[in-house]
Amino acid sequence: MKKQWWQKEIVYQIYPKSFKDSNGDGIGDIKGITEKLDYLSNLGVTMLWICPIYKSPMDDNGYDISDYFDLAPEFGTMEDLDELLKKANEKGIKIILDLVINHTSDEHKWFEEAISNPKSKYHDYYIFKEGEEVPNNWRSVFGGSVWEKVKGRDEYYFHAFGKKQPDLNWENEEVRKTLYDMVNYWLEKGIAGFRIDAITFIKKDLTFKSLESDGVDGLVKCTKTSRNQPGIEEFLHELKRETFEKYNCVTVAEAPGVLYDELDDFIGENGYFSMIFDFKYADLDVASGSEWFKRVPWTIKGLREKIMASQMAIQKYGWGANFIENHDQPRSTTKYLIDQENNKDAIKMLGAMYFLLRGTPFIYQGQELGMTNFERKSIEEFNDISSIDQYYRAIEEGFTKEEALKIVNLRSRDNSRTPFPWNSSEYGGFSTSKPWLGMIENYKEINAEDQIGKEDSIYEFYKRMIDFRQNSIYSNCLIYGDIAPIDTKNDDIISYIRHTENEIIYCYFNFSQKFVFEPLNIGNKKVIFNNLKEFEINEDGIVLKPNQALLITV
Ligand code: GLC
Ligand code: CA
Repeated sequence: MKKQWWQKEIVYQIYPKSFKDSNGDGIGDIKGITEKLDYLSNLGVTMLWICPIYKSPMDDNGYDISDYFDLAPEFGTMEDLDELLKKANEKGIKIILDLVINHTSDEHKWFEEAISNPKSKYHDYYIFKEGEEVPNNWRSVFGGSVWEKVKGRDEYYFHAFGKKQPDLNWENEEVRKTLYDMVNYWLEKGIAGFRIDAITFIKKDLTFKSLESDGVDGLVKCTKTSRNQPGIEEFLHELKRETFEKYNCVTVAEAPGVLYDELDDFIGENGYFSMIFDFKYADLDVASGSEWFKRVPWTIKGLREKIMASQMAIQKYGWGANFIENHDQPRSTTKYLIDQENNKDAIKMLGAMYFLLRGTPFIYQGQELGMTNFERKSIEEFNDISSIDQYYRAIEEGFTKEEALKIVNLRSRDNSRTPFPWNSSEYGGFSTSKPWLGMIENYKEINAEDQIGKEDSIYEFYKRMIDFRQNSIYSNCLIYGDIAPIDTKNDDIISYIRHTENEIIYCYFNFSQKFVFEPLNIGNKKVIFNNLKEFEINEDGIVLKPNQALLITV
């Protein structure tokens, strides 16, 4: 693959509402991000992805945009953003924004006009169906029908996500052109690119036929009919041609539902995007279909197979975006390190395992501190619309309140959205007043101040790992090198090699708390990276210590 500037980046994802509050209203903001640029540059990140900061009623925390050209006042002004762009640039940090173009907020003026004046052109900006009955039995991603009745009229509008997030009608050419102009406006402003939200939802099955139901609610997941549908390729080609292609920008698409043999279209040489997130292993604990509330048992071996399948498929065509956390996922510590969520060696090992894969690494705020999931005692403590929906659906399915709460605690998107713990003072130094969402209980133990400069902290480990990928004699191999699995007989090991024509690095990650032998028959074995202080290698191989991450070269 031809070298691209974005392969070298280290991306740090910011959930602005929860990163740093600069004015004491309990809500994180743009000035707060600017205040913390030193923290980010000290860590070594080179690019920030900032979740939506546009004007929004915040029903889905900014993924419901009411004005694409304005910012949410609680986040700040355009001057604040310009200042952030400038100061970040001075530190060599680029910024990408979130691009939410599958839907708007129902408080966007286009939608308001479509409702108040159904004869206006804005009516066709969205998807409406006339009739007394609900048009079909599709279920929205956040629960309930995808159709919401228009008050006072026999008419429904379509929303794949929440009911305050009506889907735009991509079949309408003017809608597409208007969105492209908006995309170009932001690129002209000097941002480095976009993370693109839910982009595989823009094309619907236009027959709008009901399907067999998959739940007691009589509905069926709309992903079958509204995600990655035939015909989407025309929209995506056009989107790229009219916008991204004209700039040397990076695009990272949230593209669930894409099959591995379609990757060429998405990330190949002429693909729509620079890279996509692959959710196939992030969601390995989630059951699909009607058993959605169940946690699926999984193993490290299964995880290894999924990761390697993903890596090999992506390598065949292009480049990937590697992550273990984001604002929609629980904390990786609790998710992947069962019963070891507070084990520092294990947290570092897990970090290195995904970070050194082939692709651009993404770090979600707080991941570099080893933050964990919370445990909330009542549904009132939640903010995430999808958690609240899941709670009531679980009860509808016959679970008790306690069971429903357990389900929600495990997977709630609020787990990763708690305010960032900067120190151990009240509200964790995030704000001087009560934050919009409760802090996690353990912020006094897990916070940035406590870890910066402390030799064996998770933060310092991430810093060292970033530096190792970016600035060592192994950088070329670690960034651009290919990947291949190492066959192992040990079920608790993930292992792979990274290699170029004349370099090879063997990478081992021990998820168990046991000593594990891995045969390795190469001449001189040189340990080049280790999350622990010691290591044991002999002629035949290596003895991995509990939770060890070890990189070896010749
Ligand atoms: C994406 C976002 C998620 C949001 C949804 C609807 O999945 O990551 O946070 O709720 O799209 O915009
Ligand atoms: Ca604020």
